[in-house]
Amino acid sequence: MVDVTGMRLVHHPCGNLPIARGECVVPSDLERIDRRTASAWAKDLSVEEYLRRERVLKTRPFSRGLTVHSLLSDDDTLLASCESYRVPVAVPLRSSLGFGLGIASVFVDEAQRGHGYAAELLQRLHRQFAEQGAALCYLMSEIGPTLYARLGYVTRPLRIRRQRAQPRPHHAQLLTDSDLTQTLARIPPPPHSPLHIPPTTEQLDWHVSRGRFYAQQLGCAYPAQIGARCGEAVLIWQADFQRDERKLRVLLLSAPGPGSDVSQVVAAAQAFAYEHQLPTVEYWESGTQRELFDDEATSADEATSAADDVPMILPLASDVHLTDHSDIQRHHWL
Ligand SMILES: CC(C)(COP(=O)(O)OP(=O)(O)OC[C@H]1O[C@@H](n2cnc3c(N)ncnc32)[C@H](O)[C@@H]1OP(=O)(O)O)[C@@H](O)C(=O)NCCC(=O)NCCS
Repeated sequence: MVDVTGMRLVHHPCGNLPIARGECVVPSDLERIDRRTASAWAKDLSVEEYLRRERVLKTRPFSRGLTVHSLLSDDDTLLASCESYRVPVAVPLRSSLGFGLGIASVFVDEAQRGHGYAAELLQRLHRQFAEQGAALCYLMSEIGPTLYARLGYVTRPLRIRRQRAQPRPHHAQLLTDSDLTQTLARIPPPPHSPLHIPPTTEQLDWHVSRGRFYAQQLGCAYPAQIGARCGEAVLIWQADFQRDERKLRVLLLSAPGPGSDVSQVVAAAQAFAYEHQLPTVEYWESGTQRELFDDEATSADEATSAADDVPMILPLASDVHLTDHSDIQRHHWL
């Protein structure tokens, strides 16, 4: 059992940080937190590049809903940290949208792991969010389900579908940034998932901006087109030019059901990836998206596999039931 005497939570809201030369001006206690997490998430970036990425992403509108949380000991030692992003949540039978929190970057210094600090941080946050009226928390675990399942999170099913890029003909319309808001406004709720997180321009922009950051870092021109539409089928993507990641990552696929419109946007994604020398198109398939592929013939150029990351949801309100939920899209991942 972790001794919680004297521990306290500190919240760092990032919504109103000043911006200078395209980057947020981050206070030193926040930069200290980002600097620690670089060991887990900088990957191919140097620590300084990783810090710059974080400062750039904090300028995006989605980061207005970002708060960094830390758990401190009685002598102010930083024990654990994480981020939360506020998102809208549609809850069945409610007359207006509720809200939820996407949890990301749960981190404890290596020397302090295994003492229950991550669990203590999250439990305290869940209590606060529930008191504030949040519908749910969600996260994508990179470390399997155990830690989060102990705290009440429930695993949602997810598979990854990969298609080879190829020059396929299509008659879908390609979309740019300026089409995003209007396109999303026309998207109907996902069928069979009355409990869901509606897509927002801000959240999709955050992902596209991340793609742009890496492209700029690598000296590649980021394409202006960010998706495709045909009839009621909409697909939004992020081009990832990172060395070991090169792919067209589908962030959102929405359509009322399977059919020729879906086939058109799928073909557009394959053709677009081919044109930009990205070898693969990658879809996250939860229940709602899998149905959209029902009419698509599975070809030799296509494969599905279990996902490494585990989507998990923690209901925080008594009217939130996971039996109402089957829609995890890639853009929910932070
Ligand atoms: C994951 C992390 C935050 C856990 O912090 P912590 O304070 O040690 O966690 P707690 O003591 O509250 O809980 C420990 C439990 O977490 C789980 N866990 C921790 N690291 C894990 C890993 N790499 N793989 C699988 N499970 C892991 C285990 O269930 C462990 O319980 P056990 O010791 O009984 O096996 C910390 O190891 C870390 O910062 N890792 C690097 C960043 C990271 O991967 N974050 C999670 C992203 S989803």
